Amino acid sequence: MKSATRTFGILTSGGDCPGLNAAIRGVAKAAQEKYSMNIIGINEGYRGLIAGDARLLKASDFSGILTRGGTILGTSREKPFKDEGVRDSQTGRDKPEAIIENYKKLNLDCLVVLGGNGTHKTANLLRKAGLNIIGLPKTIDNDIWGTDVTFGFHSAVDIATEAIDRLHSTAHSHNRIMVIELMGHKAGWLSLYAGISGGGDVILIPEIPYSIDSICRHLQKRASAGKAFSIVVVAEGALSREESSQPRTTRKKQKDPHEYFSRGSEIARAIEEKVRMETRLTVLGYQQRGGTPSPYDRLLATTFGAAAAELLHRGEYGSMVALEGSRVISRPLEEIAGKLKHVPPGHPLIETARSVGTCFGDE
Ligand code: F6P
Repeated sequence: MKSATRTFGILTSGGDCPGLNAAIRGVAKAAQEKYSMNIIGINEGYRGLIAGDARLLKASDFSGILTRGGTILGTSREKPFKDEGVRDSQTGRDKPEAIIENYKKLNLDCLVVLGGNGTHKTANLLRKAGLNIIGLPKTIDNDIWGTDVTFGFHSAVDIATEAIDRLHSTAHSHNRIMVIELMGHKAGWLSLYAGISGGGDVILIPEIPYSIDSICRHLQKRASAGKAFSIVVVAEGALSREESSQPRTTRKKQKDPHEYFSRGSEIARAIEEKVRMETRLTVLGYQQRGGTPSPYDRLLATTFGAAAAELLHRGEYGSMVALEGSRVISRPLEEIAGKLKHVPPGHPLIETARSVGTCFGDE
């Protein structure tokens, strides 16, 4: 069957997550077996495209990778347009120019990018510069606008839920308050899902600014009702009421990964001081991104990958594959670029959690 695409490049960009290899396999198998396309694997995201670090992928490259964590292509947080005009330290070239040149040199008809918000923002700029691009939405944060869900998210929910489950028994044995900080960047999806699944007593997400007094009142009420332990789930991007009313530039954030600013530690300290109960902190960290994808993510990543192969076949470029309800669709990159998908204030899960007595620190 003649396809609009003969040869395409594929790269993974941004933070890794479970399901990247399943998605690579999904695109590659469908494109190779069904449509006989050539696939060029680009190493370490946009950095590899700037440097021309690429290789022709064979069928054997895709076998046995469905369940493997990470990405066989490697990844980086390279943002080629961020320092526009700044030359690449290795090639000495202007980065976007180098990407366009290598795209042509590699004879690509299209570039498939697997990534999050930053990746799709770059993809849209490359589209504007004349490249054919198709995006696949991955991230444990589930914060990509235009798709109900991203692959990687449900694996992270499973991992975080298990971690909360395990905190219950130790919290109970010691009569302690356990604070657990989860990832999620500026969105609260991961903490909301895992917090409810794990039966968190308090869930703090960036979309609902908290007050320490409200959290402590809730914990004291639980203690007076004879509940000797509590679990507090904190999204890394959670904000206090005071901070949320200040300009973004004045907010605390992690600048140096070696001097980790932890929202959870700040909250744990404040709770212990006010509630006067022994409090402990767990920062779950990168385990949420590691390891094998859950069955849900294997299905989603394979489905997205196969859908991308169909877009390649039809020559429908300039879009991102997405899930809307139970339908797999594609959305124009220009619609998605630069937008974040936050938990909306009236999300049904927030109401569900409130109904079972969960505190969001806002009452
Ligand atoms: O974007 C995914 C994510 O896991 C966020 O939740 C987290 O803030 C960030 O990546 C940290 O990743 P890195 O240290 O790789 O920049």
